[in-house]
Amino acid sequence: MRIDILTILPELIQGSFEHSIIKRATDKGLVKVYFHNIRDYSTDKHKKVDDYAFSGGAGMVMTIQPIEAAIEALTSQRKYDEIIYTSPDGETFNQQIANQYSSFENIMILCGHYKGIDQRIREHLITREISIGDYVLTGGELAAAVMADAIIRLIPGVLSDETSALSDSFQDNLLSPPVYTRPAEYKGWKVPEILLSGNTKLIDNWLHEQSLERTKKLRPDLLHGHE
Ligand code: ADE
Repeated sequence: MRIDILTILPELIQGSFEHSIIKRATDKGLVKVYFHNIRDYSTDKHKKVDDYAFSGGAGMVMTIQPIEAAIEALTSQRKYDEIIYTSPDGETFNQQIANQYSSFENIMILCGHYKGIDQRIREHLITREISIGDYVLTGGELAAAVMADAIIRLIPGVLSDETSALSDSFQDNLLSPPVYTRPAEYKGWKVPEILLSGNTKLIDNWLHEQSLERTKKLRPDLLHGHE
C-alpha cells in the first residue's frame, strides 16, 4: 500500500511513522508513506498557501492552486482509491473504515489547516471527508497520523501474530477482554483462576463473556446483535 500525505507541516507527524510496528511495516515493504509539502507546489513568489476568506472574518483559508497542483502531480502518476480530506465536519473514522482501507493500493490524505480549505477543492478533488472525533484540532496532521496508523497495522503481514488484529477492540463491535501476564500473583493481586487452568475452551468462553460484560458496561451503544 502507498499513502501520500499532503500537508504544510510534514515535520509534525513524520516521526510517528519511524518507530515500532509502522517502521517495521515500511522496512518490510508492506507500506510506503510519502509526505508532500503543499508549499512546494505554490506558484506564489513567497510560497503563500492561504488567503483571506471572501466572507470576511478571522482566519485564513487554504487556496486552491498549490493543493490542486499537488493532487494533480500525484494523480497523474497513479490511480488513487480514495482522496481523503481530514476535517471535523467529515464522517467519523472507525475500525470498519480502517479495515476497508487496509486492502487499498493507494490512498491520499490532505490535511486541512487554518479556517479550512477553499470549498471548490472539496467539491472537485476530494472523494471522502473524515473526522477522527467531535473536537477541533489545530490541523489535520494528527488526524492523518491516527488514521494511517490504524490502517497500516491491519495490512496483512504487518502484525507478527496475524490473529491479534482480529481480537482487537471494535473488530467485532466488542471491547477486548482484560489481559494478564506473569507473575500470577503480585502483592496479593491475583490473576483470575480460570486463566491458570490450561483449559483453552473454558478460557475462550471466559474471554468472550468478559468482552460482552465490558462492552455492556463501558460501551452499550456497540452491542446491537450481541445479546
Ligand atoms: N482537523 C481539525 N479537527 C479535526 C478532526 N477532529 N478530525 C479530523 N481533522 C481535523
